[in-house]
Amino acid sequence: MARIAPSILAADFGNLQQDCEMVNKSVSDWFHIDIMDGVFVPNISFGMPVLKAIQKHAAKPLDVHLMIVDPDRYIENFAELGAQILTVHYEACTHLHRSLQKIKSCGMQAGVALNPHTPVTHLESIITEIDLVCLMSVNPGFGGQSFIPSTYKKVTATKELIQKHKANTLIEIDGGVTDKNARELKTAGADVLVAGSHIFKATDPLATIEKLKNT
Ligand code: DX5
Ligand code: ZN
Repeated sequence: MARIAPSILAADFGNLQQDCEMVNKSVSDWFHIDIMDGVFVPNISFGMPVLKAIQKHAAKPLDVHLMIVDPDRYIENFAELGAQILTVHYEACTHLHRSLQKIKSCGMQAGVALNPHTPVTHLESIITEIDLVCLMSVNPGFGGQSFIPSTYKKVTATKELIQKHKANTLIEIDGGVTDKNARELKTAGADVLVAGSHIFKATDPLATIEKLKNT
């Protein structure tokens, strides 16, 4: 069964504790945390103090998605802040292998995110080192955007690459995930579905998470 990771970017920052408790209570699996620097993506989300506040209330693993340039600078900080999965962008890492080794040496699982235009074949020589591939199904930077349909084919291609190399890598989908595309994504091979606005803007977030999980 696929894991569900509610994206805190869409939560109510004035009531973070309440939204974290909703996620704790739900059938979801991880907290998805988006860190944006206004350079790699055209938006700034939040940084360490807010992550610290989330960590205080979160009772599930923190899946931290770094949309920042030169992420190596902060790997140790994110480990100290309790991240269990730390994902860097392929497009932001000159020495990706080194970044992944550093993440793992800090005791975290290492993820690599791909922008919609980046082919998964770029991961061919490093796939066995990756714990999680995050396929961006929107252009990163903002919540609430529409899902890019070519993602389905990319999930299939990623699954094939993982199997070919006998890697033990999870496939995560991030952006525009709803109950309209969840089934097809899972069928294509998705292991983790990130969803922000679909969950937090719903009238019944708990039921929405349950539906995503069971669809
Ligand atoms: C986009 C972020 C996503 C975002 C998803 O740059 O990486 O995690 O929060 O939001 P929705 O589900 O609203 O598209
Ligand atoms: Zn994300």
